[in-house]
Amino acid sequence: MANYPTPHIDATPDDFAPTVLMPGDPLRAGFIADNFLQNAKLVNNVRGIQGYTGFYEGCRVSVMASGMGMPSIGIYSYELFNFFGVDNIMRIGSAGAISEKIRVRDIVIGMGACTNSDYASQYHLPGSFAPICSYGMLKVCTETASEMGLRYHVGNLLSSDTFYNDVEGLPEAFIPSKAWGKMGVMAIEMEAAALYMNAARAGKNALAICTVSDHLITGEETTAEERRSSFTDMMELALKTAKKLEK
Ligand code: HPA
Repeated sequence: MANYPTPHIDATPDDFAPTVLMPGDPLRAGFIADNFLQNAKLVNNVRGIQGYTGFYEGCRVSVMASGMGMPSIGIYSYELFNFFGVDNIMRIGSAGAISEKIRVRDIVIGMGACTNSDYASQYHLPGSFAPICSYGMLKVCTETASEMGLRYHVGNLLSSDTFYNDVEGLPEAFIPSKAWGKMGVMAIEMEAAALYMNAARAGKNALAICTVSDHLITGEETTAEERRSSFTDMMELALKTAKKLEK
């Protein structure tokens, strides 16, 4: 018996291209399809998690929302890798910077993803797992970002289970942004580690790239227009990377 449609994706393997871009927000999946893809077809809309497959400069590519957080991206990326034959998933999201070297609107590319989540416990490992991206995807992505003249940083992300942290009364050293920042972590987001673990387990490829929407140390923020334009740059970076991966 085929394992599709799944409870969360009402499609067949033929509906998806080998590379799927995953923004968190379903409306952004629609935005990419409307503005960057030719002949885009809606291939999933279960729970409003819009998925589209179309063509970018002649390359067949899919875009589907991940929702927010590790449980959500964990479900969608698991099903895409294991039941729909997808080879590469590229998260395109936003992150809060915790490194002074990083400015809002910069792009952070997760070579690794630390986490405060218990996601890895399902694998029963006799130690801790280091979630890392696909080197092949990272290489193509950084080459492309350099060609495009984008400001980007490659390093560790923190995939956090919480957006709001109860830090009342905590000494500064224990505040998550300070503690992880001390270890050179660039920025906090909420999905990369689960995506990287699912890719590792499935023998597939994943990469998380994020635009920095806010700075948790300096308090610098982006305007809605800045967020929109920097998201557009990242989308083009992801689409060009997807196209090169097909060669
Ligand atoms: N925390 C987690 N995820 C985020 C943040 C944050 O501060 N900013 C953008 N995505």
